Amino acid sequence: MERRTIGAGALAVGAVGLGCMPMNWAYSTSRQRGDESVRCVHRALDLGSGLLDTADMYGPFTNELLLGRVLRERRAEAFVSTKVGLLVGEQHIVANGRPGYVRRACDASLRRLQTDVIDLYQLHRPDPEVPIEETWGAMAELVRAGKVRSLGLCALGARGGRRSGAGLYDGTLRQLQRVQQVFPVAAVQAELSVWSPEALRTLLPWCEARGVGFLAAMPLGNGFLTGTLTPGEGFEPDDVRARHPRFTAEMMAANQPIVAGLRRVARRHGPEVTPAQVALAWVLSRGRHVIALPGTKRERWAAENAAAADLRLTPADLAEIARLPAAQGSWD
Ligand SMILES: NC(=O)c1ccc[n+]([C@@H]2O[C@H](COP(=O)([O-])OP(=O)(O)OC[C@H]3O[C@@H](n4cnc5c(N)ncnc54)[C@H](OP(=O)(O)O)[C@@H]3O)[C@@H](O)[C@H]2O)c1
Repeated sequence: MERRTIGAGALAVGAVGLGCMPMNWAYSTSRQRGDESVRCVHRALDLGSGLLDTADMYGPFTNELLLGRVLRERRAEAFVSTKVGLLVGEQHIVANGRPGYVRRACDASLRRLQTDVIDLYQLHRPDPEVPIEETWGAMAELVRAGKVRSLGLCALGARGGRRSGAGLYDGTLRQLQRVQQVFPVAAVQAELSVWSPEALRTLLPWCEARGVGFLAAMPLGNGFLTGTLTPGEGFEPDDVRARHPRFTAEMMAANQPIVAGLRRVARRHGPEVTPAQVALAWVLSRGRHVIALPGTKRERWAAENAAAADLRLTPADLAEIARLPAAQGSWD
């Protein structure tokens, strides 16, 4: 698979990584299958999708434990990317960016992942009660202690900014400027897909100008852009899409022209090419510093997604995708 480099340390990873969240979090728990997920991780590593993206809160903890089962055998083939800063409580998810907590959380992640170093340690959400420099400083100490190789910042959950009329990533850019004074950012993780292109405006250029990697989360639009979901089929109550404004039957129907466009482009590249692969190839075409992180728990889809790294969209394909209607349905 094509390799891309991120951060000043020029860490090399496959252009398509593996988002491990669906194995233990966010999507319906009744469909989670531990052994199939383990096989999925092995398949991704076989195909060069070395970046395995997880978080201590996925599960919570069970996703890191699952990855640990693979990493104890294949650590050298993987690029381990996990996150700190969010705690799952009984009722709510809360941020904790206190330095002492960050140190303890890192040790716990290392144990669960069965490794002695995390390649990319990301701040999942800044803690509003703790200056971000303090949290980032504690993370930088982990690099100096040899427990972590590089640091990243997640820029999701920034939807409040849109409501107040500010640029979606204005707050993130200010945070990035502040943490850069403390220790270099190797990668930023944020949503980027054909139906959620907002990061292209300011966040991607910021990363590109500084040699910072961009990890594209939700590149398949939570599965919508693959064309395998049927409007109106519904989601189990514990699936994030059950509350997502773009996943009502009405909005899924309204957004079908986007899937139809991806399907048209796919057909031009051969009968076996899928809309999911076109959606991923589009993400990769946004810059040499972009790594796509499609999430899956299925071996077959991990293989399909990895193969998207070889799909080259033509200028005509890109122009057709640019002409697709904007997605309907938002959190605003
Ligand atoms: N930092 C953050 O706060 C944050 C937030 C969200 C996501 N992320 C990261 O981004 C990754 C990707 O996000 P995501 O998993 O939510 O969304 P996604 O990659 O856009 O979509 C995942 C969904 O698509 C399905 N899928 C995957 N490949 C497919 C294919 N080839 N054909 C048909 N369906 C396919 C998966 O099904 P199955 O589950 O059945 O395999 C899953 O339901 C996560 O795993 C996580 O690492 C980070």
